[in-house]
Amino acid sequence: MKPSGPVREDEEDVGDTANAPSANEAKADNRPMTDQSLTHSGLDLNDRSLLITGGTGSFGQAFVRTILDRWPRIRRLVILSRDELKQYEMQLALGKHPALRFFLGNVRDPLRLRRAFEGVEHVVHAAALKQVPAAEYNPFEFVQTNVLGAQNVIEACLDTEVRRVVALSTDKAAAPVNLYGATKLCSDRLFTAANNIRGPRDLRFSVVRYGNVLGSRGSVVPYFLKERAKGVLPITHPDMTRFNITLSEGVEMVLWALEAMEGGEVFVPKIPSYRITDLATAIAPKCEQKVVGIRPGEKVHEEMITASDSLNTVDLGPRFAILPHAADYSKGEYCRGTGSQPVPNGFAYNSGANDEFLSVGEIRSLLREHVDPNFEV
Ligand SMILES: NC(=O)c1ccc[n+]([C@@H]2O[C@H](COP(=O)([O-])OP(=O)(O)OC[C@H]3O[C@@H](n4cnc5c(N)ncnc54)[C@H](OP(=O)(O)O)[C@@H]3O)[C@@H](O)[C@H]2O)c1
Repeated sequence: MKPSGPVREDEEDVGDTANAPSANEAKADNRPMTDQSLTHSGLDLNDRSLLITGGTGSFGQAFVRTILDRWPRIRRLVILSRDELKQYEMQLALGKHPALRFFLGNVRDPLRLRRAFEGVEHVVHAAALKQVPAAEYNPFEFVQTNVLGAQNVIEACLDTEVRRVVALSTDKAAAPVNLYGATKLCSDRLFTAANNIRGPRDLRFSVVRYGNVLGSRGSVVPYFLKERAKGVLPITHPDMTRFNITLSEGVEMVLWALEAMEGGEVFVPKIPSYRITDLATAIAPKCEQKVVGIRPGEKVHEEMITASDSLNTVDLGPRFAILPHAADYSKGEYCRGTGSQPVPNGFAYNSGANDEFLSVGEIRSLLREHVDPNFEV
């Protein structure tokens, strides 16, 4: 029987691990990327204004907290989302701050976005629908929020004084096999192409793409933590691998991109992978691992950069950038300006062929640090 838990954006799944080292072979120098490797940025948001769509979500809440801690003199920090209860609860949790504005709104509503974006300099677009099965069942709802909503955000930026825009993407947008991923790929392309229509404005649009956020709501980690009491964990495919990023690494990556972007890049962090079987062992070493089969819309391995992207991809050290086809800079100029190197032709960044794999011990440490400080096996 297939697992009945919700299959979300950050769902565990499947691939061909012929090239992947086993967790036991993970070398001491193959450490997961640290927060520090992402934080080189001269960004200063004191006296500035920023709006985040989807600010009440998992990413948004961590992002807003980080900003208030790091730049307490931010002038205006606008949280735009639909549900008043989530906003009310977030307001209670954060307490009073003179910069905070909770703005009810829907990214499907262009007039409301234009109103919200007045006087805003930085925009982070995190609002999305993201449950894979919900997308298959309600495709046009996903098109309206993830695709038309993205274009509405772009138009509102073009119509106001916004200067920097980062949109969040997912590994499921690279060579997508489900509708959720396809809508996010459309969104990525809308944002990168928006640089072509900005005219003389000082306005840049870029995308940050990453993989599963460890322990996020509805994902495999809370599911395994709940199921382990039953003594059996369902494994969809024994070879399945996934990229792993922590929420704080995702936040740092977006903050970095706001400062570093030229416009048009899809930034991809270098992050470790894990095997689903190692995750199950880390959480419940005594449980039976029962193979239940891959589900529709899942891949064995996730991909963040496809071989077809390689011609336009550069290596920035701790991250890659997929450059746009039509840009006002060439790949050579970008490399000279940023100190980056082109990747070899045919290069692909795939969770199954990654250089870095988390060991069982490393997964346990991350679970203690980022999911539950009292986690025990
Ligand atoms: N979680 C992951 O593992 C992961 C991995 C890679 C990429 N991402 C991407 O990261 C972004 C943030 O993800 P998350 O995990 O923070 O998602 P989340 O927890 O589900 O939050 C989604 C946010 O978007 C808002 N929203 C949804 N529809 C909206 C609409 N039509 N108009 C305005 N706001 C809307 C939601 O609030 P309301 O419901 O109140 O409107 C909520 O604030 C998404 O773009 C996602 O694709 C996530």
